[in-house]
Amino acid sequence: MKRPRWTYPFRAALWVAIGLWLHGCEPDSSDVPPPSATPYPWQTPRGFVQPTFPPDNPLTVEGVMLGRRLFYDKRLSGDNTQSCASCHLQDAGFSDPERFSTGIDGVQGNRNAMALVNLAWQDFLFWDGRENSLESQAIQPVIDPIEMHTTWPEVEAKLRADPLYPALFQKAFGSDQISQDRITKALAQFERSLVSANSKFDRWFRGEETFTEEELKGYELFNSERGDCFHCHGDLNTGLTFGAFGNVQFSNNGLDSVLVPWSGYERVTGNPADRAKFKIPTLRNVEYTAPYMHDGRLATLRQVIEHYNFGGHPSATLDPNMKAAGTGRNWSVEEKDALLAFMLTLSDPGFLTDSSFADPEAP
Ligand code: HEC
Ligand code: HEC
Repeated sequence: MKRPRWTYPFRAALWVAIGLWLHGCEPDSSDVPPPSATPYPWQTPRGFVQPTFPPDNPLTVEGVMLGRRLFYDKRLSGDNTQSCASCHLQDAGFSDPERFSTGIDGVQGNRNAMALVNLAWQDFLFWDGRENSLESQAIQPVIDPIEMHTTWPEVEAKLRADPLYPALFQKAFGSDQISQDRITKALAQFERSLVSANSKFDRWFRGEETFTEEELKGYELFNSERGDCFHCHGDLNTGLTFGAFGNVQFSNNGLDSVLVPWSGYERVTGNPADRAKFKIPTLRNVEYTAPYMHDGRLATLRQVIEHYNFGGHPSATLDPNMKAAGTGRNWSVEEKDALLAFMLTLSDPGFLTDSSFADPEAP
């Protein structure tokens, strides 16, 4: 059917109006750093691959500093009592020592807060991988009803009324406009700056330090068929940067024999074959990030080792690399001690005390 002619000018006017409206909503081009911003002195640690940064959110000194302030700012929550750092504590490797974090209304979730480390190399976020960028991830905790439980317009309004923020946004993004887009970009920049690469393992890997016999035995076990951790936690070809580049990203390591429907990566793919497959977590700083697993069910690394020694529970989606499921590994006491000794070489205490990651308002 032919459209009546009179609608053309009307439609043209409508498109102009929509265009203007969209232009107003669209992140304007000043959401990228101004020429005056200082490029962040990023250094890819030796043995790591170069990460890719989103072209519309390059790291700048000003952006990282702003993101750090926002990460510790309790005004990102509904009643001004909770910041990102309330659940991601630096002295716990930016994880939560509580099994389940408690949100502002006293309600607990059912997931253990993840350690924030070497996120510049992570392609999928959350235990079930439902976000794929730090910028989009940062939107969630603020509006999550059992976390910070507020709205973005409220957060924006609170920050606009602050004496410091407008100037900080000006420096990082070229104007004093404060928007959800800019807040999440700055948070993501700070999170990318959280690099841990100076553990004993790193120094050993770079030839700067030696392992004890026990640590070496643990390392060998970790990377052998008998210990078999390496299939999931680490990639021998890209420099053994644990958790940064797994061969597999989501896997069922046999915690349960009865799988919770719609859990794990299944939530993203809708495929029951992905049921109870969780993100393979980094083992960096694992000494400090207890409790362990997506639901924090294991309190100590000894318990984790016993889980893998037991072999895991068989189930429909159990990872084929859990080869000892149902039979067990039968490790000796020495082997278990060696695995633990090796995992402790992944501790980077300097990361936990690095003042450039700490609350800028802390005394
Ligand atoms: C109430 C506690 C709580 C608060 C507040 C909180 N988080 Fe989290 N965070 C969690 C939990 C729990 C998870 C895991 C959730 C899941 O997988 O479903 C998580 C996961 C993450 C991840 C994914 C890490 C990975 O390796 O996949 C990032 C990134 C993150 N949080 C950043 C932030 C930022 C940024 C803020 C502040 C805007 C914040 N969090 C506030 C509890 C919290
Ligand atoms: C088949 C893949 C796979 C293998 C093999 C494997 N893991 Fe895991 N590992 C995972 C997954 C997936 C998780 C998270 C599971 C969850 O939370 O449901 C995990 C969690 C962990 C955690 C808890 C980390 C945290 O932050 O909560 C530790 C520690 C760990 N594994 C150590 C080991 C060790 C040591 C070995 C070898 C003895 C090993 N893993 C073998 C996949 C594997």
